[in-house]
Amino acid sequence: MNGLPSDLKTEARWRVVQADVGILGESETIRRLLETIEQVAPADISVLITGESGTGKELVAKAIHLRSRRRMQPLITVNCGAIPEGILESELFGHEKGSFTGAVGPRKGYFELADHGTIFLDEIGELPLTTQVKLLRVLEAREFMRVGGTESIQVDVRVVAATNKNLREEVHRGNFREDLFYRLNAVPIHVPALRERREDIPLLVEKFAQDFIRDNHIEFAGFSESALHTMRMADWPGNIRELRNVVEKIIVLERGGRIDERSVQKYLHGTVPFNTALPVPVTRSREESERDLLFRVLLEIKSEIAQLRELLMHRAEPRYHLGPWREEYAEAYDESSDHNDEHTYVADMEKEMIRSALMRFGGNKRKAAAYLGLSERTLYRKIEKYGLKE
Ligand SMILES: Nc1ncnc2c1ncn2[C@@H]1O[C@H](COP(=O)(O)OP(=O)(O)OP(=O)(O)O)[C@@H](O)[C@H]1O
Ligand SMILES: [Mg+2]
Repeated sequence: MNGLPSDLKTEARWRVVQADVGILGESETIRRLLETIEQVAPADISVLITGESGTGKELVAKAIHLRSRRRMQPLITVNCGAIPEGILESELFGHEKGSFTGAVGPRKGYFELADHGTIFLDEIGELPLTTQVKLLRVLEAREFMRVGGTESIQVDVRVVAATNKNLREEVHRGNFREDLFYRLNAVPIHVPALRERREDIPLLVEKFAQDFIRDNHIEFAGFSESALHTMRMADWPGNIRELRNVVEKIIVLERGGRIDERSVQKYLHGTVPFNTALPVPVTRSREESERDLLFRVLLEIKSEIAQLRELLMHRAEPRYHLGPWREEYAEAYDESSDHNDEHTYVADMEKEMIRSALMRFGGNKRKAAAYLGLSERTLYRKIEKYGLKE
């Protein structure tokens, strides 16, 4: 590359970094974001990533790990909002045998598992104050004890945290410790909302559409200029995640022809018009693909119904507090017997969808879970529930 003018060299370098970390975008904002990642990744300094939901915070955390000298070591992601308070400390720091009922053997916590690598503390704003104290101590001393343990354990871990809350405000409200905030916030990285970098939208739409039609073997005639313009002008409160969902929904539910502005409008506000006219698959039988895609849409509808139900129950009955432990809650709800035929019907559909996804990915649960939009844990639970084990 030596003969190239320097701006081309810089350009080529950015392309390499982008391809490596998967953060797409041509905007100045994305350029600056990548530049910051390149600057901070090599140092072991803590990073706090902020931004609205779906902006790509997790992607940035992964990028920091990938562009650091720790890239061949583990990256351990901990969703602080998804672990019940009672076991949070043993999950983070491990426990010794017999330290509590159920601790049948010693177990390493996430910090030990991340030794020499990176720990990504996602939704750090959800961490209870008691755990915040312990975490601060670990960050300062670089050592800790397992729950019920007496020996101190040393680890070499780089900490990256993320939140979509305003942590400064949480500090003012007394929900987040100021000392921990400053410790984590050594380098703040803010990931801007999609509406603040609209110029990236057409490129993202194109990429998401290509990925989706390739993975699902669908014929697709593309988006019209006016369709792209409409997407560019939309607000995208759910940011890139929402953009990807809308693109996939349009491709699944709009038949054949080129997508115009009117079809985009239909899908912009989170509604799914019920339309069974599905795209024609290229390599699989039409029936197979239609069934698959239809199941997928039905699962989405099911999850929307479940969310509405949760919302209603939450309003009517405050003891069903929808804290971070939503999956457990959903499980309890799933298992409760007082819903009716509609429940059985949805369960049948769900079982069928899971079976079909597992077949499609040759039993690979990680891929099947990603495809179905479920966490792997939920997928395992459902496989068990429906007796789908091979
Ligand atoms: N710049 C980007 N280029 C390509 N894909 C992106 C980009 N930013 C985000 N994505 C994709 O969008 C989705 C959401 O990103 P991610 O999970 O990182 O968001 P988040 O900020 O962590 O959201 P949340 O706060 O809801 O957890 C992911 O599928 C991610 O791969
Ligand atoms: Mg996230």
